[in-house]
Amino acid sequence: MRLHSSPGLLALSVAPLVVHSLQLPFGITLPAAIDSRLNSLRTAVTQIQVPSFINKIIDPTGSSPLLSLHRDLISIPSVTGDEEAIAKFLESYLLAKNFRVELIPVASPEYPPTKKRYNVFAYPAGGSRHAPILLTSHIDTVPPFLPFKDGLRAVHGRGSCDAKASVAAQIIAVEELLAGNAVTEDTLALLFVVGEETTGDGMRHMNTMDMSWDAVIFGEPTELKLAVGHKGLAMLTVEAKGRASHSGYPNLGVNANSHLINALYKLDHLKLPSSKLLGNTTLNVGVMTGGVAANVIPAFASAEVAIRIAAKTFQEVKDIVEAALKDVEGIEATWKQPYYDPVICDHDIEGFDTIATSYGTDIPNLNGKHKKYLYGPGSILVAHGDNEKIDKSDLYEAVKGYKRLVKGILNAKAVAIVPQDNTATSAPPVVEAETVVEAVVVSATVEAPEVPANSGREAKNKDGKEEEKVEYVTILPVDTV
Ligand SMILES: *[C@@H]1O[C@H](CO)[C@@H](O)[C@H](O)[C@H]1NC(C)=O
Repeated sequence: MRLHSSPGLLALSVAPLVVHSLQLPFGITLPAAIDSRLNSLRTAVTQIQVPSFINKIIDPTGSSPLLSLHRDLISIPSVTGDEEAIAKFLESYLLAKNFRVELIPVASPEYPPTKKRYNVFAYPAGGSRHAPILLTSHIDTVPPFLPFKDGLRAVHGRGSCDAKASVAAQIIAVEELLAGNAVTEDTLALLFVVGEETTGDGMRHMNTMDMSWDAVIFGEPTELKLAVGHKGLAMLTVEAKGRASHSGYPNLGVNANSHLINALYKLDHLKLPSSKLLGNTTLNVGVMTGGVAANVIPAFASAEVAIRIAAKTFQEVKDIVEAALKDVEGIEATWKQPYYDPVICDHDIEGFDTIATSYGTDIPNLNGKHKKYLYGPGSILVAHGDNEKIDKSDLYEAVKGYKRLVKGILNAKAVAIVPQDNTATSAPPVVEAETVVEAVVVSATVEAPEVPANSGREAKNKDGKEEEKVEYVTILPVDTV
């Protein structure tokens, strides 16, 4: 009704908003006067019913299930250790979408007892707790919290990329797969864990729960490519101790910097293993400190080193480094947590570009014989920065990507569906795919994905009718008075 009383406002405002929805390149800012009119229009339409096409123009985020879920996730601060609110939000969201939801407490002795931390595990209400395919990502972020900011093309805010983009896209992908009857309800489960950005305690807690999956899709920023794997990590501190003296009388002192330089030179020139899949092992001397003044022989020096391991194991790389430092005088190397071996991912689904990544994930923290896929929207290069962001188009691509991955997994291999048992109070025995005799083969219910063998991006754009369906649902509250 208010809209009706000011038709001029609508006419004036819709034009710039069309610009908004067309997602023109960066740099287009609406004049303040128009922007404030848009805001009052947005306020007005919360109280009236408008056709969905207008709504879509006026409020592209609010009228998109994907963008609005993503926005809601970003708006809830969830720096590691502070994940209760976002877990509760996801619980109510997923319950409203007809999922069964379990909040799984994760013990957190290192945080105050008032902090409650939960992994969120969910599966369709008519499905199975032991679904064979799991889509998972993490709900914690690095600090500091950065508020949600809507741009023309991109969404900004902490977690917008890492990894709330994956969380939102996985949920919407599962909703769409179910709504389109592309999968049966007992095919999929969702898991969103705490603590990925620090110790991986959320994912490691799942190892105590007697659960297993045939395939797990991990959501992290991979630029919409299917990861072939990610490098392992080793970190060490190299310390050198000397004895201070006047720089004019170096024979009276011991120069800690010289010792450290000798050590770092060796490390910098070390031959480290490489692999075809993950490339070179790289070594970074990230921090060096030593000495107090130019005219004082330094008594102490140290350096922080990180090694991204492309081949062999953490232990083997550690052995190589220690052998190199064995003969260097006056230094001591201390190895730090966390460390992990390189991770090889499955990438046997056609139609995706591939990528080798160099950052850590929760993949090594989840035990089991499941296939491991790593895929998600956004780039790690912005993930932890102070302008973390994600392109809206990447969010939509990721929904398609997750759907194609699920279909690809189902088509590639007969995944065992465990007969549903939702009434059981204790977890039913874990059933390995190979041992299931009367498994229902669900691949029969899945259409073959139309995936040309050429570029992944093209494949996504031609991915059939069902994939093209991007529905906007009006979620405006309607004032009936
Ligand atoms: C790996 O190292 C070799 C030798 O130093 C170099 O020629 C090559 O470009 C490196 N590969 C990558 C992917 O950086």
